[in-house]
Amino acid sequence: MDLFSPLELGELQLANRIVMAPMTRSRAGEGAMPTELAVEYYRQRAGAGLIVTEGIAPSADGLGYCRTPGLYNQNQVHAWRAVTDAVHEEGGSIVAQLMHVGRVSNALNKPEGSQTVAPSAVRARGEIYTDAAGMQPLDEPRALELGEIADVVEDYKLATENAIAAGFDGVELHCTSGYLPAQFLSTGSNRRTDAYGGDAARRARFVLEVLEAMRGVCGARRVGMRICPDNPFNDLADDNPQETFEYLLGAVGGMELAYLHVIRFPTGRVDNIALGRRFCPDRLIGNESYDFAEANAAVAAGALSAASFGRPFIANPDLVRRWREDLPLAEFDLATLYTPGAKGYTDYPPA
Ligand SMILES: Cc1cc2nc3c(=O)[nH]c(=O)nc-3n(C[C@H](O)[C@H](O)[C@H](O)COP(=O)(O)O)c2cc1C
Repeated sequence: MDLFSPLELGELQLANRIVMAPMTRSRAGEGAMPTELAVEYYRQRAGAGLIVTEGIAPSADGLGYCRTPGLYNQNQVHAWRAVTDAVHEEGGSIVAQLMHVGRVSNALNKPEGSQTVAPSAVRARGEIYTDAAGMQPLDEPRALELGEIADVVEDYKLATENAIAAGFDGVELHCTSGYLPAQFLSTGSNRRTDAYGGDAARRARFVLEVLEAMRGVCGARRVGMRICPDNPFNDLADDNPQETFEYLLGAVGGMELAYLHVIRFPTGRVDNIALGRRFCPDRLIGNESYDFAEANAAVAAGALSAASFGRPFIANPDLVRRWREDLPLAEFDLATLYTPGAKGYTDYPPA
């Protein structure tokens, strides 16, 4: 068994175990829609066993960064269809990462009429880039009212329906990096005293309801979840991430999701990969700073089912072939990670 061996994860069929990690690239066009450039970008990378898309907002409220896409209307479904068709034409598989930023936003990046909402009215310390005015402080969020939480869950359900209608092979819940699901899970950002705040079970309720809604649409075997316990990104803080995630993964266990996507975080208080293995030993995707040799050894040893790679895919659209043929890797240009246009996006040539 190695990184080139095929793999089944639930209903997902991977031609190899080299997964492209989700990466926001800020190239979406008007109406939070992917453009022809995104079609080309993903087509070029379809050699991955599985592509996890950039974070896609399940609602206008879920948008927070410049030029990022959504999956909450039919125009977006149509635009994403061109992406999934291109990847499938090349023999690849692709899942949509559903990402609701919650409080990690600035109003200048949001469509008119949308709001910055979170479990509690606790502002994250930090700044975010806006096209209109450069770096800006993160918004003070409005706390979701109890009755509104079901609407947000419904947004994830509709976005999952839209993802399936757009031809995605599955969906991944983005449940880390300080965004809405992680805000609910963590004591620092969730000060609620109702059924969605308090002990680990209450803080996990939102995530469990979202997963339940997603699997209700397409079956658990097409739903993945991405976590990184104790990740402090975007001012996230939890008193006891080990306890929080043991509860969450215990509750998720019975759902038989397609996969668990775990970002390791060696300086944190939790051994994330060990935790992932405990709860999901046979459908675990590991991530963060793996190179070919380390990931290949982990798969050979049965410690991971697959590994995902983010930065290596930026300048190496044909990453799988380069590793297979032992070709050198190209370095990406930091300056064009999030800038509009083809430069630094679709103009990295194959080897
Ligand atoms: C440009 C860029 C954008 C990213 N956007 C996302 C995202 O939208 N969703 C997400 O879950 N992770 C995102 N990440 C994190 C990556 O998925 C991955 O966890 C990280 O790059 C570490 O993996 P690597 O060492 O293979 O690059 C992003 C990373 C980069 C470099």
